[in-house]
This record gives sequence, structure tokens and C-alpha cells, in this order.
Amino acid sequence: MAEVLGTDRAGIARAAALLRAGGLVAFPTETVYGLGAPALWAEAVAKVFAAKGRPRFDPVIVHVADPGEAERLWREVPALARALMERFWPGPLTLVLPKRDIVPDIVTAGLPTVAVRMPAHPVALALIREAGVPIAAPSANRFGRLSPTHHEAVLEQLGEAIDAVIAGGPTPVGIESTVISLAESPPRLLRPGGTPIEALRELLPDLRLDPPRGPSASPGTLPQHYRPATPLFLWEPGPPEGGEALERHRCGFLAFRKPWEGFAQVEVLSERGDLVEAAARFFALLHRLDQAGLAAIVAEPVPEVGLGLAIMDRLRRASSGRARLDETRVWIAR
Ligand code: TXA
Ligand code: MG
Repeated sequence: MAEVLGTDRAGIARAAALLRAGGLVAFPTETVYGLGAPALWAEAVAKVFAAKGRPRFDPVIVHVADPGEAERLWREVPALARALMERFWPGPLTLVLPKRDIVPDIVTAGLPTVAVRMPAHPVALALIREAGVPIAAPSANRFGRLSPTHHEAVLEQLGEAIDAVIAGGPTPVGIESTVISLAESPPRLLRPGGTPIEALRELLPDLRLDPPRGPSASPGTLPQHYRPATPLFLWEPGPPEGGEALERHRCGFLAFRKPWEGFAQVEVLSERGDLVEAAARFFALLHRLDQAGLAAIVAEPVPEVGLGLAIMDRLRRASSGRARLDETRVWIAR
């Protein structure tokens, strides 16, 4: 079972020593928990893939403690990248640019580019600094499952597969970083996340939002991802059109602002309708519903502005289809 480390100096020092020895350490960032290994050490990164059950075609993000470290991983740093780092780092923004040869292929899944970010979490920054090397870290979940926003969730999924987790409590942003490719022109959004598109637009007025195709595609943007074990369906307004029906009292409901009647369990993302609060609570509430032994989870869509774009991206990938409701039942279309 993984060692559970504190966020004090002793905990960070132990975690850094394990990392430098090629161990696997999960740590909090402002977005979700990451599962780290020294990024320039291919064998150590390979262990991350094995622990997660992650396919080798999915590249990982390299975490640095200052922008200068990123510049040692990228071949060239365009002025736009500098401006973005200055404005948004540390923070939930990952930038993709052509890589230098020192970055092993396993980190980038053979792509000629590498994704880098500087997290805005004191524990993550202290750990990277203490380890003295950039840290490759995907989210600390088993492949395709819910991203952990608390160390308990890391232990549940990976407790047997990793060496240690730093117990940093809940992560404040709650949703993974926004991923932008600057390797193409104009720049392209590869994954909506913790930095809202509206904020990025100031520096990236021509940012492309349509998903990439072909070899430049971000392999992590699979249509099915972030899946709870309980099937999830996105609520759609309108009368039922037949199909498979489940009793409401056997189902759970993930609501945006207000609880809905008749469900076995209801979780509300944000009573005040705040999308930042909703993002912070999203994975934890989904996890709670997933643990409740329900026949299905119905999720209410949230407005697609600000962090709502990232929440809806995760909900669509988590869903197995659409759900319509009548007075007592949930009608499912897969
Ligand atoms: O907030 C986050 O980004 C968290 C924390 C731990 O930092 N990390 C995270 O990592 O979500 P992961 O591995 O679960 O997601 C990485 C995403 C995937 O969608 C992957 O395809 C994309 O980044 N990515 C990584 N390297 C890439 C590259 N060279 N080109 C295109 N996409 C890349
Ligand atoms: Mg992930």
C-alpha cells in the first residue's frame, strides 16, 4: 500500500527522494492529483503508464517549477508562448510546442511536441523544486476513470500500484488544465480546462476550437473518458421517446443549481450557479454518486461559458447517452 505523506518539509523531502529513485508519487496540483515520475527518465515514466493501465499512445504533461525550465524542454519559444506563460503561469494552462531531443518519446507518445505546464499549487511547486527535475504527470487515476481531486480518491484507484501519495486535501480548481497547441498556426484548443477560453482570447484572438484531426490530434481527447463505473446519461429536455426505462428512485442525479425530485440521491454542483464552484466539486460529486450503487446517473447540463465548457466536455465523455424524464422514470437513449 502507498505511503501517505504530509505536506510538510519532511513529506516533500520523502516524496522527492522517492521520485529521484524512480518511484511513483501522486501529488496535489491546483487542478487534480497527478501521478509523477522524472520526465527525462524513460523507464520511470513507463512505470506511470503501467500503474495507470494507460495506453502508450497517450502523451503526458511535463510539470515545471518555472518558465525557464520549460524553455529547456522546447526547441524554440515563440513570443506568444512567453506572453502566455507570463500571463497564466503558474496556473491551469498547458502549452504544446516542438520538443528537444532530451524529452523521451514515451513522454510524448512519439509526437514531435511536448506539453508543459507550471502548476499553481505550493505542494506541487515545492516537490518539483526539491526533486530538481521536471516531473511528467498524468492525472492520478486508472486510465479512462474519474480524475482524483482528493488523495483518498487516489488511494482508492491506485493505492496498490504506487509508492506514495502526498495528502494535500481537495484540489481547488477541480478540473484538469486547458491544453493549447502552439505548434500549429493558428493555435488550437486541444482540451478545455481550468483556464477559461474567454481569458485566453485576449492573447489568442484566433484560437481554433474545432477538434484536431490526423497526426496532430491530442490522443488524450478520446470520446470516452472520465467514466464513472455507473452508466451516466445527459439529461435532455422534452417528453420521453420510448427506449429503455429505469425507475427514478433507483437513479442518481447530478444537478447544476437545484435538487430534482424523486431520485435516490441528488448532488448539486453549485446552489449559487457559480461555474468555478461547480468545477471544483465536479469529480468529487460524480465519485460520490458512483459509489452509491445506483442503476444510472442522470446529469443536468451546465451553461457552456467559462469553466462550464470544461465541465460539459467531461460530462459528454463520461456519458453513455441521453436521458429524458417523466414523472417517475428515466428514459434512456444510448
Ligand atoms: O491539470 C492537468 O493537466 C493534470 C494535472 C495532473 O497537471 N494532468 C492531466 O494529465 O490531466 P493527463 O495525462 O490526464 O492529460 C494530458 C492531456 C491529454 O489530453 C493528452 O493527450 C494531452 O494532454 N497531451 C499531452 N501531451 C501532448 C502533446 N505532445 N500533444 C498533444 N496533446 C498532448
Ligand atoms: Mg487524465
